[in-house]
Amino acid sequence: MESRYDDRRGKITIRNDLVELNIKNDFPIFSNNKDLIYLDNASTTQKPQVVINKLIEFYTKYNSNIHRAEYKLANIATKEYEESRQIVADFINANKLEIIFTRGTTESINLIAYSWGNNLYEDDEILISEMEHHSNIIPWQMLAKQKNIKIKYIPILENGELDIKSIKDLINDKTKLVSLTHMSNTLGTINPVNKIIKKIKQYNSDIKILIDGAQSISHIDIDVKKINCDFFVFSGHKIMGPTGVGALYIKKKLMNEMVPFLMGGQMIKEVNKFDSTWNDSPWKFEAGTSNIAQVIGFGEAINYFNKLDIKNINTYENMLLNILIERLKEIKPVKIYGHIKNQGPVISFNIKNCHPYDVSKLLDTYNIAIRSGHHCTQTLMKSLGTDYTNRVSLYAYNSLNDINYFVDRLIDVIKILN
Ligand code: ALA
Repeated sequence: MESRYDDRRGKITIRNDLVELNIKNDFPIFSNNKDLIYLDNASTTQKPQVVINKLIEFYTKYNSNIHRAEYKLANIATKEYEESRQIVADFINANKLEIIFTRGTTESINLIAYSWGNNLYEDDEILISEMEHHSNIIPWQMLAKQKNIKIKYIPILENGELDIKSIKDLINDKTKLVSLTHMSNTLGTINPVNKIIKKIKQYNSDIKILIDGAQSISHIDIDVKKINCDFFVFSGHKIMGPTGVGALYIKKKLMNEMVPFLMGGQMIKEVNKFDSTWNDSPWKFEAGTSNIAQVIGFGEAINYFNKLDIKNINTYENMLLNILIERLKEIKPVKIYGHIKNQGPVISFNIKNCHPYDVSKLLDTYNIAIRSGHHCTQTLMKSLGTDYTNRVSLYAYNSLNDINYFVDRLIDVIKILN
């Protein structure tokens, strides 16, 4: 190990003793795409063979609908589906009955806006932040227009952190909900949600808190009881699970105050010609045939993730991130957005005279996948004073070689574009 002084971070340690997690072989995408350097993990993660096997197992061994039939196959499918609910609940320290399966983070936030939002009235206020993903902005804008309620924004500071001090001036007796991302999908910034929630609840314990865990779920050890949020949302596909499935945690007593979001089969207790009663929660919120295979695969992904151990993942990803930042700084015309103290393995940057779309297109010719654009965070882009960035987002299966190859090719791309 070597040490070096860095202007922004002080003394830093260069890990040349890096022990890689070495799990690439578990992911068939890499054997099918031998040269692939996949650095777009904030967008979606790759799937290990065990998760793919679980999907195949469902379709080939016990494909049937759940909660509706008495025959053996249906019982196996129902048992597997409900076991996934327990796995997800344990993973974030919730009760099984506090977990609703949705299509993903976006649907979960829409569900809350429609269903819990039904309890809001004119002049009520919702506080979000400038670094939110569009899925944590647009549902509130729709609600604000329908109900004539007000949306306020926590600004970001120049270093990419939320201006926490501003919160005391932004909340008041009209504030009904604070909805914040746990980790920015664009900057990687990890927001100190425990501290923020404590302050807000001290001011008024009735203010509800929604935490968007789409990015944090696979990089931070989540305990919804410790966080003390009322809602926590995340997607399966960001944690090596299938697409089309997500989890919505709602504090049990709140569920009873919420109307169903989608109406149809399975969410009812009794249907009469002109009126109906609802099933118990969480099934009241799972109308229609669920994404059964995906839910079962989601549970398997969490089992796989748990075996890797979040502590190992964190240590490894932090080392990779530090090396990436060190190497990016070698490139003189690079501008890195956001701070780097408390950050997940995501970094946004721009290079003078190189449009991000050209950069990512040219990197693709070397089989390197990064995302460029506004990353569904246009309000953040406006605060940062740019329209687009390049974004690299790492995951536990990335290697030191991925980072070095990426930076070396980026240097080539800059030469081509200049
Ligand atoms: N939310 C995903 C991203 O940040 C799609 O890329």
